[in-house]
Amino acid sequence: MTSQSILVTGGAGYIGAHTLVELVASGYTPVVLDDLSRSSMKLMDGVKQLTGKQLSFYQVDCADKTELRRVFGLHPEISAVMHFAAFKSVNESVEKPLLYFRNNIDSLLSLLEVMQEANVNRFVFSSSCTVYGQPDRIPVTEDAPFKRPESPYGATKQMGERILEDAVKAWKELKVVSLRYFNPIGAHPSGVIGELPIGVPNNLAPYITQTAIGKRSRLTVFGSDYNTPDGSCLRDFIHVVDLAVAHVAALSTIDQLPSRFEAFNLGTGVPVSVLELLNTFMRVTGVNVPYEIGPRRPGDIEKVYADPSKSNRALRWRTKLTIEDALRDAWRWEQNLAK
Ligand code: UD1
Repeated sequence: MTSQSILVTGGAGYIGAHTLVELVASGYTPVVLDDLSRSSMKLMDGVKQLTGKQLSFYQVDCADKTELRRVFGLHPEISAVMHFAAFKSVNESVEKPLLYFRNNIDSLLSLLEVMQEANVNRFVFSSSCTVYGQPDRIPVTEDAPFKRPESPYGATKQMGERILEDAVKAWKELKVVSLRYFNPIGAHPSGVIGELPIGVPNNLAPYITQTAIGKRSRLTVFGSDYNTPDGSCLRDFIHVVDLAVAHVAALSTIDQLPSRFEAFNLGTGVPVSVLELLNTFMRVTGVNVPYEIGPRRPGDIEKVYADPSKSNRALRWRTKLTIEDALRDAWRWEQNLAK
């Protein structure tokens, strides 16, 4: 059997690069497309080192239909698309809403239009638990209603899913899996690829590792008066390698799923607080992280964690790695970056 070719947009980003490694390990041939505006060839070099393969790579903006047509033309063997390419900073999206709507929605529409022309009809979408807002019931299941999004970034994920749900109704061959990520953390256990935040990180895990290595003087824990066991927010932190493996599972089951648009939670189902994550990092690495308790961050959700039973069942996938693994791996990556 010939290896299936998969177009991976945003393959030089954090989650994209980890997924490339798992795709190659499962016998797929990824074709990578990335505009490198928020990502780096450093991760592509790491992917090459880990897989021993030089993957086809195109520096292309996903909204550019002419370029997309060229890539599909060069690779008529592409049978599915994984769409990671998007902007993901909540703060930045509040400051530059038009940029976020233009980038995240335009790229999705261009890609779908060119896929239809090329007759490629399997699509895996990077969604987010942000679509739920603060859910009424936790752990949250996929049928929970969407709340009004807190940020333009969140709106682009809700709109993305809406576009895809409507597209499958009209385009009868299209099959879509939308993967709702909870909080991806960690790095490849080799320490060769990991997260590369631009500037000061917004997200907790890279802020912890950058403080531990001395790039930042101290971490601020945003809020200690939430209605949670230790007063800090509760999240569902998932190892990026478990998340990457779920994408391969989505691809291998997409033809067997009951409907042509299916959404799945990708989380562990285990709530972990911000303070717990921080203390676990200090325990497993033995490195002290100076921190202070600060005010709540506007727009933060108090608690959200996944009910992953639908993904466990339908994708025949479950998480295998722990937050301890993720924090050790993230620390190895941060130390390698400093070398
Ligand atoms: C947010 C988005 C999510 C998006 C992700 C990627 C929401 C509800 N969630 O996740 O959709 O995919 O960003 O950018 O919009 N924290 C600190 N100190 C810090 C940094 C974070 O205490 O320096 C706390 C936050 O208050 C939060 C938790 O750590 O309680 C996790 O924050 P973060 O890593 O930014 O992720 P989310 O906000 O959960």
